Amino acid sequence: MASLTGKVAIVTGASNGIGRAIAERLAQEGATVVVNYGKSVDKAKQVVADIEAKGGNAVAVHADMSKVSDARRLIKDTVKQFGRLDILVNNAGMFMPKPLAETTEEEFDRIFTLNAKGPYFAMQEAAKVIADGGRIVNISTDGTHLGFPGATAYLGSKGALEQFTKGLAHELAPKGVTVNTVSPGFTDTDMLRGGGPQFAEVGTQMSPLKRLGTPKDIADVVSFVVSNQGRWITGQNIHAGGGVVM
Ligand SMILES: NC(=O)c1ccc[n+]([C@@H]2O[C@H](COP(=O)([O-])OP(=O)(O)OC[C@H]3O[C@@H](n4cnc5c(N)ncnc54)[C@H](OP(=O)(O)O)[C@@H]3O)[C@@H](O)[C@H]2O)c1
Repeated sequence: MASLTGKVAIVTGASNGIGRAIAERLAQEGATVVVNYGKSVDKAKQVVADIEAKGGNAVAVHADMSKVSDARRLIKDTVKQFGRLDILVNNAGMFMPKPLAETTEEEFDRIFTLNAKGPYFAMQEAAKVIADGGRIVNISTDGTHLGFPGATAYLGSKGALEQFTKGLAHELAPKGVTVNTVSPGFTDTDMLRGGGPQFAEVGTQMSPLKRLGTPKDIADVVSFVVSNQGRWITGQNIHAGGGVVM
């Protein structure tokens, strides 16, 4: 039997990139997966079709994770539809390669709302219903550790998410729920490519392994953290960045 058989997982921002790979991986392990999307309905439906083609179970659900009401609804509707919630992966996020001097107040609010506020209230709602022994994983970035230059608001928003992890790990410990951060390094997705051609080159050179990460590299780490084998890890930030150092 696959390790997540009978479990229900939500992966936010699962229509593309790292979220998509996580959704596919958890479905491969037997979980029923809620493939959340913001704008890309067709891509989300394709993820579901691909999962089903391999014998897995998934549904595509729209929720704009920068809206607290949507984040709450996503959790409530999952429990309504499937009767339980075991795993929440807060992956939806945005990157903003802007230094302090160029960041507007509107941009600051936008990035914090999606990368920190949405996940916070998704976790608040999830904390009410998540099954004993459940798992929450927040996707941050290796950049907070490296002090990656020129993306100060982005690093701040992900830094907040990392601190939520530490606090909530204590709050949910009585239920045996683990809460962890997984921090990808330079990973080959539309987000990385959209930041400009320099990111792929810099990311490849900075890793001792001399390649970019793949979404699957990150999904494999998340899969371990949410499995029974990951039960003794909580409140941690697991860096999945191919050994990049600055
Ligand atoms: N790629 C990297 O090098 C890298 C490195 C470190 C950390 N990360 C983190 O990894 C996560 C995934 O990034 P990625 O590289 O896979 O990016 P991506 O390929 O651009 O995918 C981003 C995903 O987030 C979703 N999303 C965006 N806004 C949303 C919203 N308001 N509500 C719901 N979903 C929303 C998108 O879905 P829709 O199109 O449907 O809106 C998409 O599925 C992010 O949190 C990012 O910060 C990435």
